[in-house]
Amino acid sequence: MPLSADDIKNLHPYEIRILHALERMMRRHSWVPEDDLKMAVHLSAVETNYRVGSLIQRGMVRSDSVPYKGYALVFKGYDALALFSLAQQKSISALGFMIGVGKESEIYEARGCGIVVLKLHKVGQRSFQTVRINREYMPEHGHCPWIFASAKSAKREYEALKALNGKLNVPVPINQNRHVIVMSLIPGVSLHRSRLEDPGAVWQDILAQVKVAYDAGYIHGDLSEYNIMHDGAVLWIIDWPQWTTPEHPNATAALRHDLETVSAFFAKKYQRIYDVDEAIRFVTSGKVD
Ligand SMILES: Nc1ncnc2c1ncn2[C@@H]1O[C@H](COP(=O)(O)OP(=O)(O)OP(=O)(O)O)[C@@H](O)[C@H]1O
Ligand SMILES: [Mg+2]
Repeated sequence: MPLSADDIKNLHPYEIRILHALERMMRRHSWVPEDDLKMAVHLSAVETNYRVGSLIQRGMVRSDSVPYKGYALVFKGYDALALFSLAQQKSISALGFMIGVGKESEIYEARGCGIVVLKLHKVGQRSFQTVRINREYMPEHGHCPWIFASAKSAKREYEALKALNGKLNVPVPINQNRHVIVMSLIPGVSLHRSRLEDPGAVWQDILAQVKVAYDAGYIHGDLSEYNIMHDGAVLWIIDWPQWTTPEHPNATAALRHDLETVSAFFAKKYQRIYDVDEAIRFVTSGKVD
């Protein structure tokens, strides 16, 4: 069920207090014990039960009674906290339609300073298994449910957008809170949905931008025809949470994978064969191994 503006607008201050407390306490618990929650929110038992019940009804909190009565924040509650904060910071003033659902994200239009895009990172249970391999997503100690992995993913992407904005064409990063990024709207469509007039020029443009990113210390790591957008003239590279640095032990493999994926797309859709080894040499030239 997509998030609606009313989900956020109708939140009572006590409900926000409960969501905040759950978020805090979920660093230590998968299920926050009922008694701990009651102590943390400084509300009467009746008020707490009523407000938690209302959050459960709206799909923001879940409860379980085995092995003990406890509550957990779920994605919709985490969404509410992030969007509430972004609205308080005046980064967004209204939530629009959902414009995309990715493997690990939901994308919405919103009103902010003009029309902006919200990317809600949702590192789900299944994909979390693979994310686990990348230790950068994991905290040093303790418990890391998927909501925190999603925040980590959003932070990583926001960091890349901030570093690369102005150097190559990426969405302009506006703000980030928890697992949500606010960024500019790209006025194009993904390469897999566009019909290019000059595929060779676009391939060159991609290589040029991949090189600029590489020289700035970023290898995309998930480059594909789905993560490159084009408006007939300008090309943007989106979806950066999986970046690695050129110094990373897997850097060469990641860069090769990126360029092979895109060249395979050009071979299949446009029957153009590009030399990936040559492309790698071009991207890495001038950089000491
Ligand atoms: N800034 C933006 N402006 C316009 N559209 C966007 C923007 N960011 C994302 N989108 C749209 O949403 C889709 C999904 O975004 P993104 O690739 O960042 O997420 P994802 O979870 O990795 O998705 P996927 O699994 O499909 O790769 C994009 O393919 C694009 O159509
Ligand atoms: Mg994508």
